[in-house]
Amino acid sequence: MKTLEELYRGKAKAILKTEDENLYVMHFNDDATAFDGIKKGTIKDKGYYNCQISKICFEYLEKNGVPTHMVEPLGEREMLVKSLKILPVEVIVRNWTAGSMAKRLGLEEGKKLPSPILELCLKNDELGDPLINEYHALALELITEEQLQQVKEYTWKINDLLCKRFDEAGLILVDFKLEFGLHQGEVILGDEISPDTCRLWDKETKEKLDKDRFRRDLGKVEDAYKEVLRRLKNPL
Ligand code: TMP
Ligand code: ASP
Repeated sequence: MKTLEELYRGKAKAILKTEDENLYVMHFNDDATAFDGIKKGTIKDKGYYNCQISKICFEYLEKNGVPTHMVEPLGEREMLVKSLKILPVEVIVRNWTAGSMAKRLGLEEGKKLPSPILELCLKNDELGDPLINEYHALALELITEEQLQQVKEYTWKINDLLCKRFDEAGLILVDFKLEFGLHQGEVILGDEISPDTCRLWDKETKEKLDKDRFRRDLGKVEDAYKEVLRRLKNPL
């Protein structure tokens, strides 16, 4: 697919226009940031691992009835995607206590929750993606009631499907972030699903195999991304 100019450059991905206005190319790079861009670095071959991991997840979700923006993978670090108008609401699902929720609520990290939690955040880096609730999302007209219902329905389905898929790979899906968008008026899943956007722990040892290794300077960062891809390709 011939690409035209860059439409958007995010922190770890770029979106390129194509000759078809309904299609974009999403390129994954090796840049890593944390704490709203304050910590910066690169993780060797992260773009490759995240692209391949996202591809496996998107294919699995599509096969099971969740519409995603992926049209087809293009080589090692790119995928052809549907053009999306991203909704300014990020969706986080938490199955275990960890990260910002554990900190905010004074909880010990690493407890399985009796039922999963769905959080909404305003997509705004300058404000640090602040936590909001459904009333904010509707009153601030970030999303319509109908779109919100669809987002929630897909999110719970995605959680069930991904928990199962990662469990088969010997991984706990601790929490993750999703971004949805509109394509020809329909809500579909966008962005990526990777160790940048999910917390993934080894089922037995609880070893962290995600971006927390970078955020918290735990070492063996590349190895974690590589291991997640290996396990998804060759379930235990
Ligand atoms: P948190 O505990 O820092 O709020 O993160 C929850 C989940 O969301 C975690 O799996 C990592 C993911 N995440 C992103 O994808 N992008 C972000 O900017 C942040 C802060 C978290
Ligand atoms: N992606 C966010 C940032 O660039 C934060 C994170 O993933 O921890 O700051």
